[in-house]
Amino acid sequence: MWVCGVYLGLNVWGVLLLGLALVLLACNAGGKEPAGFPRGPLAVPLLGNVFNIAVKQPHTYLTQLADTYGNVFCVRVGQEKTLFVCGWKMVKEVLVTQADAFADRPHQALYSRLYNRHTGGLLCSNGKTWRRQRHFAMGTLRTFGLANGATETSICQESQHLHRAIRKHKGEAFEPAAYLNSAVANIICQVVFGRRFDYSDPDLQRLHATMTEMIYLEGSVWALLYDAFPALMQLLPGPHNRIFTNFQALRDFMSAQITSHKSDFDPSNPRDYIDAFLAESKDKANGELGFTEENLVLCCLDLFIAGTETSAKTLQWGLIFLIQNPQIQDKVQAEIKRVIGSSRFPEMADRARMPYTNAVIHEIQRMANVIPLNGTRMAAKDTRVGDYVIPKGSTVLPILTSVLFDKNEWETPHTFNPGHFLDADGKFVKRNAFLPFSAGKRACLGEGLARMELFLFLVGMLQKFTFSAAGGAQLSSEGTVGMTRSPYPFEIRAEAQ
Ligand code: HEM
Repeated sequence: MWVCGVYLGLNVWGVLLLGLALVLLACNAGGKEPAGFPRGPLAVPLLGNVFNIAVKQPHTYLTQLADTYGNVFCVRVGQEKTLFVCGWKMVKEVLVTQADAFADRPHQALYSRLYNRHTGGLLCSNGKTWRRQRHFAMGTLRTFGLANGATETSICQESQHLHRAIRKHKGEAFEPAAYLNSAVANIICQVVFGRRFDYSDPDLQRLHATMTEMIYLEGSVWALLYDAFPALMQLLPGPHNRIFTNFQALRDFMSAQITSHKSDFDPSNPRDYIDAFLAESKDKANGELGFTEENLVLCCLDLFIAGTETSAKTLQWGLIFLIQNPQIQDKVQAEIKRVIGSSRFPEMADRARMPYTNAVIHEIQRMANVIPLNGTRMAAKDTRVGDYVIPKGSTVLPILTSVLFDKNEWETPHTFNPGHFLDADGKFVKRNAFLPFSAGKRACLGEGLARMELFLFLVGMLQKFTFSAAGGAQLSSEGTVGMTRSPYPFEIRAEAQ
């Protein structure tokens, strides 16, 4: 075969390979991108980089790409490009310095179908509806608990249920995950619909199983394929369909709670988030800002999903790290004994006098890395991040792993070290690169509640029990990665203090 006057001596396979190489080149030539657009790994035609990302630990793979392509790089899923941002300095530039330019969520096929084309809920909506709903949700969290001590009281009461469940095992091996999930879920359930569930309640257990599978699938290759080829994937069987059936099951559960509220609802005396929302919906003008019953279902769902999975997984990782580091567990217990003693419950006011425990909880959150990527953002205008050009409409994902383990920010990024948050005198110090709740306009709206849960639940457990691995087993720090990072199932022993 002659190409440009050169004889290549190709057979049929050679011609096919050459053809493939030319298609690959065409797909990766980046002719449409402006100068300064971030580079990225070679993408295959049609699928893009789907199978590069479909690895066991995608957050680690993506963070490592920065070593080759720089701190902003492009990864393709189908024809959709996502610009990943790495390292504290660059992530801060996106989330904080240019907060207004990156406040919106992009239009992704999966979430468009789940959230009425991005008009509903808290996690995925945009514009004035999102601003109003976020403001309303934060205000309601304050009114129904954070501001008047009610949440603190309900966490302390829930701690007693949790301790009873743990104590029943009498020092024998058990799996703590389900108890921690239920304890945390009960806190957000009380704020949103004013009730708690018994740990053995089949509704609560079903809810967890449904949610856990959905969150895992949302972070899997199936979700990527759905976003890349929505029309085709809607027709195909496969695990991606369970994202929608599970979401519907969760919606049905929330709808039932709302229906039961409506039967004895008094607008002048709201008991919880649902009542407050229904009261707000009475004003017809508020309908445009998302105060509709359909949106109430989605907002309740978002608060439940975002408010349960993250805090519960952090507590599970907390037990694992403390068991892996028994000398650190001892030091926390010594501080608890000194500041709180053993007869009264912990209070948030104790935290200021417990710098070591506070540092340990921060280090648990850093190493747990429960949201290893982050929520996606969309560039509202043509802009620059460092030397990189980001065109308007680009999907941008600032990777939290790259910040929580940034080697320029942390002395021992991959070692559990509470010293990251302590000065030479043992006083607690804040660190800029501590970003488990993200930052900027879309940062976690439940941060205050989550911090309260982590402190009161952990301190309460360590006040009553000493934890160790069942049968001296080594607990893994690796875990399963979907939208969240979960520990592998693990057993522990709890010796009463
Ligand atoms: C340890 C616990 C938690 C962690 C690590 C965490 C982390 C995060 C992260 C990383 C985001 C994405 C922010 C972004 O896109 O920049 C987020 C968003 C969100 N979180 Fe949390 N979260 C936690 C607990 C909670 C709780 C308890 C609630 C419930 C009250 C909650 C409600 C939300 C909501 C509604 C959003 C969406 C905010 C928006 O798009 O405006 N989170 N969270």
